[in-house]
Amino acid sequence: MDLGLKDRVAIVAASSQGLGRAVAMGLAREGAKLAICARTEATLKATAEEICKATGVEVFSKPVDVTSHDQVRAFVRETSERFGRLDICVTNAGGPPAKPFSDTTVEDWQNGVNLNLMSALYFAREVLPLMQKRQWGRLIAITSSAVKQPIDNLILSNSVRAAVSGMAKSLSNEYAKDNVLVSNVCPGYTLTARLDELSAKLASTEGVTLQKIQERWTSQIPMGRLAQPEEFANLVVFLASERSSYITGVSIPVDGGFVKGV
Ligand SMILES: NC(=O)c1ccc[n+]([C@@H]2O[C@H](COP(=O)([O-])OP(=O)(O)OC[C@H]3O[C@@H](n4cnc5c(N)ncnc54)[C@H](OP(=O)(O)O)[C@@H]3O)[C@@H](O)[C@H]2O)c1
Repeated sequence: MDLGLKDRVAIVAASSQGLGRAVAMGLAREGAKLAICARTEATLKATAEEICKATGVEVFSKPVDVTSHDQVRAFVRETSERFGRLDICVTNAGGPPAKPFSDTTVEDWQNGVNLNLMSALYFAREVLPLMQKRQWGRLIAITSSAVKQPIDNLILSNSVRAAVSGMAKSLSNEYAKDNVLVSNVCPGYTLTARLDELSAKLASTEGVTLQKIQERWTSQIPMGRLAQPEEFANLVVFLASERSSYITGVSIPVDGGFVKGV
């Protein structure tokens, strides 16, 4: 299937590693031109070079903290000026700390809102007018399977990401008439640095091995294994494409069957 992504211009936020990087690589393999960002310049630059070398596409990279509206605004403006258009935006950020409610502070909640909700909002504010003007666009938020089925000890993630999926659904209704499609994709347990961080935290809290934590997760997944980032990215790439022309307002898990609801 030709996804029709050649020469489309895509922003992928928080993409120096993990899920964001896999999405950026997937879009580049289909010929999309890329703008990627993260806070740490060295790893971001290395990723941009790897993607460029592997795919031959033009990659613009810029250190950006997605919790800063000013930095997001400047990044979107530079991207659209450099490439002359902007077709696709995938929002993403790091994850909030794993804690039960009783251990959270008001500051943790404010940080979580800034990291996962406000960052997605900043991108939406900047990219939607550009997409509306061209009457074509794809805005895709990376959220979590937690929006379908809250996960113990992740109350910050469970709460704030549900707000992102609510925002995405509302935006999908408002912008459908402009052929701008808005969805969110919900990763299950996927092998990235974030998962290492979560398993290390749980292992030290419970005094068990990392292997024990991973076995517990795996036992809850009908497919009996954790995901590779590319398996998540494949769906995002499809939703970003020309072929995904009638799908909007959805929250789709990529979780090996982890979410128990129908
Ligand atoms: N992996 C999973 O199993 C899983 C499951 C459900 C949900 N998620 C969520 O999906 C998202 C991506 O997860 P991941 O596993 O790919 O995480 P990851 O491997 O830790 O990668 C996070 C990426 O985001 C960047 N980043 C973090 N904070 C940022 C900020 N404020 N501004 C700009 N860039 C920022 C990081 O680079 P810098 O640190 O250099 O900025 C890095 O490139 C997270 O929100 C995570 O909680 C992951």
